[in-house]
This record gives sequence, C-alpha cells and structure tokens, in this order.
Amino acid sequence: MNTNPDIFYITTPIYYVNAKPHLGHAYTTVVADVCHRFHKMNHKTTFFLTGTDEHGDKVVQAAQNENMTTKEYVDYISGLFRNLWPDLSVEFSQFIRTTDPNHIETVRLILQKIYDSGDIYFSEYEGLYCFGCERFYTEKELENGLCPDHGTAPEKIKESNYFFKMSKYQDWLIDHIKTNPTFIRPERYRNEVLSFLKEPLEDLCISRPKTRLTWGITLPFDDNYVTYVWFDALINYISALGYPNDKRFSTFWPAVQHIVAKDILKPHGIYWPIMLKAADIPVYQHLNVHGYWNIDNSKMSKSIGNVVDPLKLKDIYGIEAFRYFLMREMSFGLDADFNDKALIQRINSDLANDLGNLVSRTLTMAHKYFKGLIPNISTLNNTDDTIKNAADVAVQSYREQMNNFAFNKALAAIWELISHMNRYIDSSAPWELAKKEESHNELSVVIYNLLEGLRIVAGLIYPVMPETSQKMLSLLKQEMLDSNMFTWGQLPHGILLEKSITLFPRIGTKSKKDNKKTQKSEKKLTNLKPEIDFETFQKIDLRVGTVLTAETVPDSKKLLKLQVDIGEKRTIVAGISKHYKPDEIIGKQVIVAANLKPATLMGITSEGMVLAAVKKKKCSVLIPEQPVPMGTPVQ
Ligand code: MSP
Repeated sequence: MNTNPDIFYITTPIYYVNAKPHLGHAYTTVVADVCHRFHKMNHKTTFFLTGTDEHGDKVVQAAQNENMTTKEYVDYISGLFRNLWPDLSVEFSQFIRTTDPNHIETVRLILQKIYDSGDIYFSEYEGLYCFGCERFYTEKELENGLCPDHGTAPEKIKESNYFFKMSKYQDWLIDHIKTNPTFIRPERYRNEVLSFLKEPLEDLCISRPKTRLTWGITLPFDDNYVTYVWFDALINYISALGYPNDKRFSTFWPAVQHIVAKDILKPHGIYWPIMLKAADIPVYQHLNVHGYWNIDNSKMSKSIGNVVDPLKLKDIYGIEAFRYFLMREMSFGLDADFNDKALIQRINSDLANDLGNLVSRTLTMAHKYFKGLIPNISTLNNTDDTIKNAADVAVQSYREQMNNFAFNKALAAIWELISHMNRYIDSSAPWELAKKEESHNELSVVIYNLLEGLRIVAGLIYPVMPETSQKMLSLLKQEMLDSNMFTWGQLPHGILLEKSITLFPRIGTKSKKDNKKTQKSEKKLTNLKPEIDFETFQKIDLRVGTVLTAETVPDSKKLLKLQVDIGEKRTIVAGISKHYKPDEIIGKQVIVAANLKPATLMGITSEGMVLAAVKKKKCSVLIPEQPVPMGTPVQ
C-alpha cells in the first residue's frame, strides 16, 4: 500500500465508559503517545486520536447501578478518561466520543452507503446471545455451553434484524492479509486472524431493536432499530478526521496505525477492513496488537479486586518511571506481569543507578575538572570514537525497533549505550587523568564524549520520558530536540553547564525527608478558625456538579469561567487557572457551595464557589470518589 511516509496517524481503541480507566487502558494510550512523540520528533505530520465508546446496554446498566441518568454517567466516565491522559503526559490531538453529533452523522452516512450498495439485508435470526458481551455466540465459540468471557449461559433469542454481508468479502480479506504481510502485526495475530478465516465467515448482525435498546445510533433506513456497538465504534477512526470531505481525512487516511490489545482483534482484524471495503474506503495501513497486563500473574479483574489505578502508580513512583516501566517490561504482542517489586527494581537499577548515576557523575566531573564549562576539543586531534560509535549503533537500532513497535528493545538499545558510557568512565578513569598535566587533553576528550553521549541519550528517551529528556537537555543548556539531535558533535564548547541533580531517587529506604514529613504532621494544627455550631455549618448548601465548559477570563491570570451543572446550570468564576487548564477541568465532578450570595468578578456574576484544597502555591479541586448524580447534597 502506498502511503506518504511523512504522514503518521495513530489511534487507541475508544474505551467503554462502563468502568473507570485502569492500567490496561493506560498502557495502550501511553504506547500511542510514545509512537506519536517519536514521529513528531522526526518531523512528520502527525495525528493522535483517542476517546470513549459510549453506546450499548452495558452503559445503561452501569448508569442505573450508580443511580444516574445515562447521559450524566457517560459524561462523567468519559471525563475521567479525558482528564487522566494529561496526568500521564499523554498529548492527544483529538478526543472523540461516540455521542458526538458529528460521529453519529458519519455512522449514519456510512450505514446508508452500505445499505444502498446492497450489502445490508433484513432477516429473522435465532441465536445464543450473551448480554454481558452484547453479542450473539455460535455453539462452537462457547466453552462448555457458557460464554468464554463471562462464564454465564447465553440466552436463546429470536429477532428480526439487519445483517451485514461479511461473507461476501471473506476471500478478498484473506487475499489482502496474505499480500500485505504486516497488515496485522505481530505475526502471531495475523496467523490468528487467518486461521479464523479458514472457517466460513458468518454475516454480522448490525442492529438491535429499540424495544431492547434505545441508547444507540438510530439506523438511517429504519427508525425502529439502533446500530450494533461495533459498527458504531469502529467508524470513530474516520469520523474523527471529518470523513468524507474534511482535509484531515484526505491527509491522514489511510496512513493509520491502529493499536489494540488481543481482546478486540476480531472486530479490528475482520469487521473493520470489511466495513471499509464495503463502503469503498481504502483499508487501514496497520493493525498493531499487544498482549495483556496481568497483575501478580493473574488476570486483572473487578471481581478479583486487583484492578490497578494508573494515577495511584503515578503518585507513588512518578509518571516518568511509570511510563518507562510500561514500555520496558512488556514485549509488544506478548502478555506481561505487573507487580510493584518489578517496578521498583527497574527504577533503582535502570533509572537511579544506570541513567541517574551517569548524569550525576558526568556533570560532577565537568564541574570539578572544567569549572562546569564544556571542554574545547576542536583543536585537538580526537581519535577516541568509542562513545560516538556506541551512540551511532544505539540510534540506528533504536530507530528500527521503534518503527517495529519493539519498545522494550528500543529502550534496551539506549541502555546499552548508557552502560557503555558508565564502563567508559571506569576504564578511562578521568580522576587519574586529572592528576597529570600531560593528560589534560585526553581528559577534555573523555568529558566531552560523555556530555555529547548524554545529549544523545536525552533525545532518545524523549518519547518515553519527555520530562526527564527535557531536564537532561536543560542541564546541558541545550534546546529541546533540534533537527541535528542525533548527529555527533553538536555541543559547543565554553557553555556553562548546570550543576548535577538527582534525576531518580532510589526507592526502598525511608528518606530523611519522609521522616521530617511525619514529624510535621504530628504538630498541632495552627490557624484554626473559631468554632461554629452544627446549625451554622448546616446552613452551607454544598452540591455535586459536573463542569460542562471552562474558559479563561480575559485580562485575568487567576480566573476560569466555568459552566457547572448542579441539577441546574450555574456560571461560576474560580481562581484556579494557574493550576488547571480549561481542558483539564471539563468533565470533572466538583463540589459547589450552591447557596453563596452571587458575586461579580471581572464583570462576570459568579453563582457559587468550587471547593478546593489550597496551601501556598498548591491547589487541588475536591472531587467525589464515586460518580454521583448532579445536585447530590454533600454532608
Ligand atoms: N470499546 C471497545 C473498543 C472499541 S474501538 C473501536 C473496547 N473498549 S475497552 O474499554 O474494553 O478497551 C479495551 C482495550 O483496553 C484493549 O484493547 C486494550 O487496549 C486495553 N486493555 C484493557 N485491559 C487490558 C489489559 N489487561 N492489558 C492491556 N491492555 C488492556 O473494547
């Protein structure tokens, strides 16, 4: 397939909103972010799409369980996903929701197109339906007569429905996969799809009668039916680009890299290419399929109670270490195991020991022997190519592995270089060279090589650890990622380097700082306001609300203008703009003081106040731990 090599479009699955985000969602989305940053760094024109899949029975049930309307519920959970990504340093280009009007319109357009071309027909069907999976199963797919995912017996249902003629395209798909060997990768998943296609493909039931389900997109050719979730969800990849007429569509499609886990291989490897073919749209370029994260060697599941919250990990270990661990520990395509011990081991050994020590040793020596100035080696006859050669090898292997989605190997290539540099320090022993006047030139070369190697390492780690990369470059007083990033010999001499810092503290022993913190919290609370009685406290009417919109207030450094739904819409002006970008607060549930006398700030009437924990320069908005209906009183 001929696609423009300068164009790069990457997608994650759009996540169901029937549960909160967990480690699995975080992994796929961080992978997409890493790829996106890598290609952006290589000056490609890029687009990165993620979002939420919001229709279907499961969502309606989940909302009922939480005592919320379906709309309230989807807004809330979708907001959790949207707001999580910036916290994990994920920078997407667009966040799509299947409830977006533009998406709905596109789904209807494509359904009509396929219906008009005769590939959708109406028929009666009797089958075994799993309500948990929202799909029919064939006898063969069941395990001992039970749904393989839920372990429950499916129900026999008879229904008239619309069907999509997938069978018509079976031979075409087999041929397409065979002639495009990397269409589905890694190979094990390509083989899985091909082996599935050895059996005759059944036509796909693509509708649900509204008597059974209303929370979905109405079929354009029959008002009594809504679309089956997969037909709706898969189209997000092109509706987000403004199919059919928007320039983004002609720019980025079909140069797409889809990323999914093995659970949704079949819809992506079979339904989606056939849907595209039937709608006369070029098929996607690559489907990249990864394995599953298990937790302490068992499946992550709500019922076992071992679901890992990525935000907690970020808070404990820091986002850079968390991202590094995800990319280093999983071999893309295979399952991996998550446990805190392995993560701590990686932090202490790879990050604190190998990388952290290399940075601090190099900078400390540069300060000790050259007063912190980058040594001038331009007039020396430098024949010591050890680090240059090691860096060239690392850059080449890294590029190859990144392009092949082998992130663990790409990182291994960087760490190969880091180890090489650490060994180089030991073997060249700068402390010995510093003792003799005649080895001063040699010392200059060694330190220059190390600093230059660090600059290249900083560039290589950027997609996975953008903050650390930036920190390292600013220690070297270098600009972020210029186009010569990986060309040897860019550091100009005479520049004053920053003093060394600890990039990654070791984890394990309780630090003095921690002890100090505990001592502090044992102190008595000061500045306590005068006591009030319970009746006075009861007079404050606190309510839960969802932030619908947020915008900065012109000419104000502190204020955000929010529209908050607390059962009725309120305009609230909040002094949080130094701490929250508008995008970060939209969709969040907040606590509002609802009976506060309105006040005018910068000409805007504020009808309430959003509660936040504030100390010195820190400000954190209070958020209910569970989703609750808008207007719920807070006691
Ligand atoms: N809504 C569909 C996808 C529609 S895409 C057009 C869906 N949503 S989901 O919320 O169930 O997300 C599934 C995806 O979440 C997986 O494909 C994978 O990307 C991620 N993961 C969920 N659990 C995971 C693990 N335990 N390990 C790794 N990734 C996992 O399916």
